[in-house]
Amino acid sequence: MDNAEFQLFPDAASTVASRVDALFLFMTALTIFFTVAIAGAILYLGIRYRRGANVNRAQYSPPLWLELSWLLTPVPVVIFVFIWSSQLFLEMQRPPKDAMEIRVVAKQWMWKLQHPSGRREIDELHVPTGRAVRMTMISEDVIHSFYVPAFRIKQDVLPGRYTTTWFEADTPGTYHLFCAEYCGTNHSRMKGRVVVQTPSEYEEWLGGGRRDQSPVVAGAALYEQFRCGSCHAQTVTPLRAPPLEGIYGRSVKLANGATVTADDSYLRESITRPAAKVVAGFQPIMPVFEGQISEEGLSDLLAYLKSLGTADGVTADGSGGAAEGGSREGAKP
Ligand code: CUA
Repeated sequence: MDNAEFQLFPDAASTVASRVDALFLFMTALTIFFTVAIAGAILYLGIRYRRGANVNRAQYSPPLWLELSWLLTPVPVVIFVFIWSSQLFLEMQRPPKDAMEIRVVAKQWMWKLQHPSGRREIDELHVPTGRAVRMTMISEDVIHSFYVPAFRIKQDVLPGRYTTTWFEADTPGTYHLFCAEYCGTNHSRMKGRVVVQTPSEYEEWLGGGRRDQSPVVAGAALYEQFRCGSCHAQTVTPLRAPPLEGIYGRSVKLANGATVTADDSYLRESITRPAAKVVAGFQPIMPVFEGQISEEGLSDLLAYLKSLGTADGVTADGSGGAAEGGSREGAKP
């Protein structure tokens, strides 16, 4: 990491790094093999059958086994690559349930990160080795992309919707953090570093510095401040709004008949634009909070809602990511 020595690959500092590299090298080797074989055949035949050469030019029809080999050789190879890569991809899309959660707010042009204890960082992220870390990310403005080459992860960070990625660092050191999506004038300066520490060093680091409020405590304060409980508390009769205890991760029936999962993105939308997805049996009477609560505040509120209990067996396995979308229903118990 320190010096300008030539490296074919960036540092490998996460559990998936060497596996991503293995797949990459295999694909490269496969491509080189077929490129050389096909280009070689073209060259060889071009010379052998050049004008004026004394060769047999009678009509040639290849035997069946040769015809079949064009078809039957690539099929198992591409199936093998498909299985290998999709397995790795899915694993990289699904954070382990016990992963520690770091919340990230990206903006032009900085990364704001917060640890579960509440400690905040800007353009720098400390993580321990041997612990799965899930990043729950959102942007305050345009699309950014969270890219740590040494971990072999890259995930777009979108405004208005949470996306997630995860990693488990395995080698202490300092690594690059880049924004990998062009996001305006200072895109190239939107970078930082990831400091991977041993668990004890990390604990020590976490204990130092300014004491920030934990997201749950900050969220509870906002809940009070905006008087959410005056409608959402279960003690209100008749019920004016859906109770929020245990809402996180649960299936919610909407007024229009659809069913959604109450994940980070749904809950955030319901706070900022309540009319977008009204819960069945309720009137759209909630005021709009769009623009009134910062992304950090929204994130704190979600942490508080989560602390009220989550639906069984469902974790915040993200609300974005290419592998998701309509198929998430299948992940539920
Ligand atoms: Cu943020 Cu590029």
